Amino acid sequence: MSDAGSRTVDRRSFLARSGAVLGAAAWLAGCDDAPEQSTALATADDATFDPTDWASVRSQFDLRPDVVHLAAFVLASHPRAVRAAIAQHAAGLDEDANGYLSANEVALEDEVRSAAARYMGADASAIALTDSTTMGLAMLYGGLELKGGEEILATTHDFYSTHESIRLRCVRNGDSWRKIELFRDSSTASVDEIVTNVVEGVRPETRALAVTWVHSSTGMKLPLRAIADALGEINDARDEDERVLLCVDGVHGFGNQNVSPAELGCDFLVSGCHKWLFGPRGTGLIWGQARAWRRVVPTIPAFAPNGIMAWIEGQEEGPANLTPSLDQTPGGFHSFENRWALKEAFDFHLAIGRDRVEERTQELAQRLKGSLSEFPSVRLVTPMDDELSAGIVCFDIPGLQAPEVLTQLMARNISVSVTPYAQQCVRMGPSIVTSDEDIDNTVGALADIV
Ligand SMILES: Cc1ncc(COP(=O)(O)O)c(C=O)c1O
Repeated sequence: MSDAGSRTVDRRSFLARSGAVLGAAAWLAGCDDAPEQSTALATADDATFDPTDWASVRSQFDLRPDVVHLAAFVLASHPRAVRAAIAQHAAGLDEDANGYLSANEVALEDEVRSAAARYMGADASAIALTDSTTMGLAMLYGGLELKGGEEILATTHDFYSTHESIRLRCVRNGDSWRKIELFRDSSTASVDEIVTNVVEGVRPETRALAVTWVHSSTGMKLPLRAIADALGEINDARDEDERVLLCVDGVHGFGNQNVSPAELGCDFLVSGCHKWLFGPRGTGLIWGQARAWRRVVPTIPAFAPNGIMAWIEGQEEGPANLTPSLDQTPGGFHSFENRWALKEAFDFHLAIGRDRVEERTQELAQRLKGSLSEFPSVRLVTPMDDELSAGIVCFDIPGLQAPEVLTQLMARNISVSVTPYAQQCVRMGPSIVTSDEDIDNTVGALADIV
């Protein structure tokens, strides 16, 4: 297979023998005789949907109407258009999985990346698709190239998924990592305090800073732009492969904040799409700057055309001309009905408007925080300032365990969560499925408890 012509013939004959086995129609992309791709999707009945009306937005969900959903961000419920797309793809796969996959996989995955790119204000080639935030973090920290003596710097505020991804990587490779505290008290923290701690924490051997955009422990939203600017000054004096990469678990800002990853200044933004975006369960992505992707070796084999062809052709060194979006997207078969319906989740948010979603989320969170701060017995953990907070609102009640408050609120049909950290708080997340009345009812229920 020394020339392009014979390679095409060999691809075709290989396909004829085993196309269904390899499945990944992605690799049909290089073939002239790929089946025509059908991208026609049944659209949800949109006639009554008014994206400018919050009650209409809420009516797109099948959420129980007698419950106040303040933990909807934990695992998404799907709006109508997403449910319809999942059902359509599932039906196509159930009728003829091989045929549906061959006819649609390339186009549908491209459409998902394009929709994600439109939503994020980013280039589709920078986006790898994953199944969750946790998977993305494990791929990123597991695949980051470090030379002997270089380290990853994390913070004490990150979630288990970040810490454990880094710890496991270090166990495998013998690398080192540290954690620094960015602030003493989330409710009084300042941008200056956070940025100063970052700058003081970075050492000459630090190659990546692992942070979390919106902390699920406190609701603190990190001032990423200010952190990126401070790192930029450190990086200006460094060679390219010694730059400190700003790696962000973005899951609790993604879907409620109106800012692109480039504006935030990150090198990597990792997120699930099944929380604030209300995308299909089991979906996520990694966005990365091209120069940053070059420092990550994929962990899971991609089913990208160049990868499989390189393997078939016996190229020991693997594929050339890597495109992060394809080569960092894990291969293997997926719950494709969910992955492909992710496009509808991005479209749904764009129809409402990213700016309006952010405004609404901040407004509801402010309403809730304002009321909570009037309870003498409630200690608000989340900053009041919009600059340092998003949709997550955490608080505790001295003398009452957080799980006890949760039980009592749940008994009143107020669905909340408790932070899964050593320090437990009650956690609420007003979102696009929440109304002003929901907030007021929640505050009323809390008044019964405290
Ligand atoms: C900050 C943070 N990152 C990651 C996760 C896990 O997200 P996923 O389920 O998408 O892996 C969570 C909670 O579920 C979280 O709070």
